[in-house]
Amino acid sequence: MTEERDVCGKTGAPAFALFDSGMGGLSVLRHFLDLFPEEDFLYLGDMARFPYGSKSRETICRFAVEDASLLLRFRPRTLVVACFTVSSQSLDILVDRFPGTRVVGMVEAGARAALAATRSGHVGVLGTEGTIRSGAYPTVLGRLGGREARVFGISCPLFAPMVEEGWIDGEIPERVAREYLAPFIEGRAPEVDTIILGCTHYPPLLPMLRRILPGITFVDPGYELAHSELLRPEPGRGQGKGQVSFLVTDGRERFMRVGQHLLGRSVEHVRETSVPSVDFSFV
Ligand code: DGL
Repeated sequence: MTEERDVCGKTGAPAFALFDSGMGGLSVLRHFLDLFPEEDFLYLGDMARFPYGSKSRETICRFAVEDASLLLRFRPRTLVVACFTVSSQSLDILVDRFPGTRVVGMVEAGARAALAATRSGHVGVLGTEGTIRSGAYPTVLGRLGGREARVFGISCPLFAPMVEEGWIDGEIPERVAREYLAPFIEGRAPEVDTIILGCTHYPPLLPMLRRILPGITFVDPGYELAHSELLRPEPGRGQGKGQVSFLVTDGRERFMRVGQHLLGRSVEHVRETSVPSVDFSFV
């Protein structure tokens, strides 16, 4: 029996295959499961190489191609790059490398929602170092919103480990958040009225963030992507059995234990695997 058969059962090809640097993308998957309960899903969490947020673009692109190569063996109808760090730096590479596969990332749907929500045209973005450094949000917001879109990006590297520890509110998380959000709290970006949560780990922080910045509209791109036109038409819709399978490159027990909080339900059917090595360089 092939591994593909083993993981996805008799139905074989899942409607959606998602990947992330680890468990964070489960906060994206939860919206897909809510919206497409009848479909089959495959999720890869690259726990062995987490975190991606502080690594170079070249490394992220190689990881992205390797992760995608593994998932495409299962012939998903849509490949979802559920990691913002990958989406912001490598989406074009994946689209070029895998023609004929629908590849969607996290940046565009959230950017569209932010432009629909903002009255001032000034949008804040919270993300990893890699996501903010990439300039993907200013580029996409500029393309979609024209010259009037102004972007204020802040990298928040402590948020991801904090959320994995379950520290989503209380004295210490609030102090960390106030430090990162100081430009908004202190009025250094007074026109920003909308903030995109540009990282898989940030949605659980929403209640606290809303309390700290009560006048701001926050955008959860996972929700926006699941509901977006980017996924439509969904060919062969409704052919699945509602199966959800998980692959991890390490840390199966931690993925199940901590991941259930990001997924909003228990995480089952998790197998450890390794990703194929691929040749990748920019030159
Ligand atoms: N999944 C990553 C992202 O959305 C956050 C965690 C990491 O640094 O790998 O950017």
